[in-house]
Amino acid sequence: MNNGDVSQSRRRFLIGATSVVGGVGVVGAAVPFVASWNPSAKAKAAGAPVTVNISKIEPGQQITVEWRGKPVWVVRRTEEMLEGIEKLNDRVRDPQSEDTAQQPAYIEGIYRSIKDEYAVLVGICTHLGCSPNYRPEVAPSDLGEEWLGGFYCACHGSRYDMAGRVYSNQPAPSNLEVPPYRYDSDDTLTVGLDPENV
Ligand code: FES
Repeated sequence: MNNGDVSQSRRRFLIGATSVVGGVGVVGAAVPFVASWNPSAKAKAAGAPVTVNISKIEPGQQITVEWRGKPVWVVRRTEEMLEGIEKLNDRVRDPQSEDTAQQPAYIEGIYRSIKDEYAVLVGICTHLGCSPNYRPEVAPSDLGEEWLGGFYCACHGSRYDMAGRVYSNQPAPSNLEVPPYRYDSDDTLTVGLDPENV
């Protein structure tokens, strides 16, 4: 495509875009309330479920996807990480995930997941909304000898374990949120859809 073609197709695009906008304006004037009843295509896309391929996540690795404009973490937990969660039951505020606002009804217990191996969490601190850092190391010097891996919010120091359970006496009032999700196969899960059999 030479420059002439580029500017011509750009012009065509601009003309097209202008007529679409004009069209929307006319519809909007004729039916003034439709716009507020129907979410825009962009809003629908922003709320759409997100399918994640988990087959390449290494043990101990975290990946982040975006769902409804929020970061959602998928962490493949190792046996040691799962053992660490068990050891922290006395040190976290809501060990059995009894605060039902923080996860769907089919997520319960100390691991807060459908399969123990994979944690799926909204990566937003329940204090004032910063995104905590993934700190899987055991006993790093800055977090202390008792740290068994988890998520650390640098904004005001809230600590969460590898299940997103908040430690006791932290600025954050509750566990990290678990979004609705389901497994489509062993290799993929979809954030934003509940399992079919619940
Ligand atoms: S926002 Fe995370 S501790 Fe305040």
